[in-house]
Amino acid sequence: MLSELPRGLLFIWILAAIFMLNVHNSQGRTHFHKKKSHGSKFPGPVSQPPAYYPTPSPPDSSGSGESSPDGCSFDVRSYGAVGDGSTDDTNAFKLAWKDACASESAVLLVPSDYNFMITSTIFSGPCNRGLVFQVDGVLMPPDGPDSWPKSDSKHNWLVFYQLDGMTLTGNGIIEGNGEKWWDLPCKPHRGPNGSTLPGPCDSPALIRFFMSSNLVLSNLRIQNSPQFHVKFDGCSNVLIESISIDSPALSPNTDGIHVEGTKSVGIYNSEISNGDDCISIGPSCSDVNIENVICEHSHGISIGSLGVHNSQACVSNIMVSNAVVRNSDNGVRIKTWQGGTGSVTGITFDSIVMENVRNCIIIDQYYCLKKECLNQTSAVFVSDVSYTNIKGTYDVRSPPIHFACSDTVPCANITMSEVELLPAQGELVDDPFCWNAYGALKTLTIPPITCLQDGAPLSISEKSKYDC
Ligand SMILES: *[C@@H]1O[C@H](CO)[C@@H](O)[C@H](O)[C@H]1NC(C)=O
Ligand SMILES: *[C@@H]1O[C@H](CO)[C@@H](O)[C@H](O)[C@H]1NC(C)=O
Ligand SMILES: *[C@@H]1O[C@H](CO)[C@@H](O)[C@H](O)[C@H]1NC(C)=O
Repeated sequence: MLSELPRGLLFIWILAAIFMLNVHNSQGRTHFHKKKSHGSKFPGPVSQPPAYYPTPSPPDSSGSGESSPDGCSFDVRSYGAVGDGSTDDTNAFKLAWKDACASESAVLLVPSDYNFMITSTIFSGPCNRGLVFQVDGVLMPPDGPDSWPKSDSKHNWLVFYQLDGMTLTGNGIIEGNGEKWWDLPCKPHRGPNGSTLPGPCDSPALIRFFMSSNLVLSNLRIQNSPQFHVKFDGCSNVLIESISIDSPALSPNTDGIHVEGTKSVGIYNSEISNGDDCISIGPSCSDVNIENVICEHSHGISIGSLGVHNSQACVSNIMVSNAVVRNSDNGVRIKTWQGGTGSVTGITFDSIVMENVRNCIIIDQYYCLKKECLNQTSAVFVSDVSYTNIKGTYDVRSPPIHFACSDTVPCANITMSEVELLPAQGELVDDPFCWNAYGALKTLTIPPITCLQDGAPLSISEKSKYDC
């Protein structure tokens, strides 16, 4: 509809909108600290840190979940762990796990004032419900690839497998000792003279939850992972509350939190500063609610990448609200490869502050890590994506709004309201990019967008090709 406005009017509107932005900015910031409650389909935030939280509340249970920690405590030192930072304490942890797993509402205690080093370990269930793995001290893997036992998996360090009703918490630190992994010459530009030597270049993710349900991850500081910090796959009912994740801006592939094949996830009140995606949502995820999260130096909050190797992707009901993204390459992103199938639908980005972010709002259906990817006719169908109250500043090296939808499967029903983005420094880059993007503006935006197309691009029968 904007394209029909005469140029003069558009100019006057921009001046008025810039004036309004100053008023809005101050309101936007105070608003950020207010809690909002959302529809009942998402897990609700818990106000008490669930330090002893034997049965994680399913979405919207009204009980507080507080119950006295009458389960036994299993201190790893009682099993022979030394905690001097160099002794291999893996065996003590395995023995403590075995006993804790077998008893009701048990606490496996990693006490404060000690530094425990363990090698890659699978903590597997089934266990009795209410198990708490409590890290009050420091827990870390061997220092770098040369100290990694040859026989150990390099895919993950700590794996929690087949558990129901388990909490990982504590006031301590999970330290990843990632530096020597980041500096491997097979990592991007870490080879001689800035080259990248051929792989394989496996580096372990720090923590993986696999095939588990009713999980809580809270309070911990998780830092310097060799690769992803925390990942969930094949899980359901996950609550992540008040954690901090910290790695240098230039650490490669250190995604903060990654979920895939996981349903009903709440991520609340957490800070993530790292070198790759802050939070990434992979295929087969639904009902993910992210609220009050701060992302710094990262590649932002990403849905994707989806549809790699012509795969089917199904992602629905994702809500991101009251977030801050700061000094990042991307703000909120949906990325898909060409050739995929399935759909991404029901995505809401609401009340997000951008501070010096390159691609604040981006949909990229041509995601490609090789030099050249072949053009393909199939694509993951992106629809019902709404952007509301997204304000702040962008880094002018790229346009702040970028919708690159598939040639053959256009994006449908993108809605935008109260989107106001100004350059952090320098000149306005006011040409948002849209390719094959359908949707509507509920309010005028800054920069103005004139390239969203009206109407619905696909008929009902065409849509059904992308059903999940
Ligand atoms: C790195 O670059 C320098 C200067 O160009 C050159 O002398 C040296 O041989 C190069 N080293 C390697 C390993 O390529
Ligand atoms: C893919 O399509 C685009 C746009 O039609 C074209 O510019 C590009 O060269 C094509 N790439 C390949 C690898 O065929
Ligand atoms: C467009 O998407 C919004 C959610 O973003 C949804 O509420 C609305 O029903 C959709 N409209 C159509 C016509 O599908």
